[in-house]
Amino acid sequence: MVISNRQFPSIYYQKFGSGPAIVLLHGFPESGVLWKDVWPALAEQYTVIVPDLPGSGKSARGNDAISIEALAGSVAAVLEAEQVDQALLAGHSMGGYIALAFAALYSSKLAGLSMVHSTAYADDEEKKNNRKKAIELIRKGGKEPFIKQMIPALFSPRTKETLPGIIERQVESGLKLEAESMIAYYQAMLERPDRIGLVANAAFPMQWIIGKDDSVISFTKGLQQCTLAYTNFVSVYNMCGHMSMLENKDGLVFDLLDFAAYCFWS
Ligand code: MLT
Repeated sequence: MVISNRQFPSIYYQKFGSGPAIVLLHGFPESGVLWKDVWPALAEQYTVIVPDLPGSGKSARGNDAISIEALAGSVAAVLEAEQVDQALLAGHSMGGYIALAFAALYSSKLAGLSMVHSTAYADDEEKKNNRKKAIELIRKGGKEPFIKQMIPALFSPRTKETLPGIIERQVESGLKLEAESMIAYYQAMLERPDRIGLVANAAFPMQWIIGKDDSVISFTKGLQQCTLAYTNFVSVYNMCGHMSMLENKDGLVFDLLDFAAYCFWS
């Protein structure tokens, strides 16, 4: 399915199954396909909606600067097109930043929020500087070395050793993202606000999926925020990095189903 809204000329998404709605939001530099090992089991009980975020996969970026809030607006447009009043949003990393912006803007539409290797903290100064350097590198034509260096770092030492093919495939898929989209996402991420206050006051249930070997969202940072909301489902995956949908898909499916059952049926 393809729709558009005021900012984005085409927002592509896939839909599977029936029942209460779960939206799976991918991170950077990925597309909805990232969730392909996860959505079949969820679709046995739920409507699963998997967008390619504007600028990724089959969705166009448009001409205006991208913000995390505008990306949340694209998710709201998909829900409106599907006449979904309330959904559980599961956001991987950048997808989690977008899900939090969605919570800030459209809280009544949220049945629950699953933060999959993501954080409510804004970037610190070091991270902002690293993003600025990466933007410079990509602007100068350095997209390929950037992706080849960043993607392997998303995986645990065990995955690197036992499943190197998964990492190669992620590098290939990351290279498909246009340099302009990469720059736009990095700029949007470094400008995103801190959402810890929102989490601390969350009226919706939250889930935290934490990889013990995650080099993007450290174990410590994950633990610091996972008890702030009123209702928290917390899972820590040992020997898993930033990519549990590839490194521990059975664990992730189990936990998402458990959380969804709480959000929709308890
Ligand atoms: C992602 O996986 O979406 C990114 O690593 C998030 C980030 O750079 O903060």
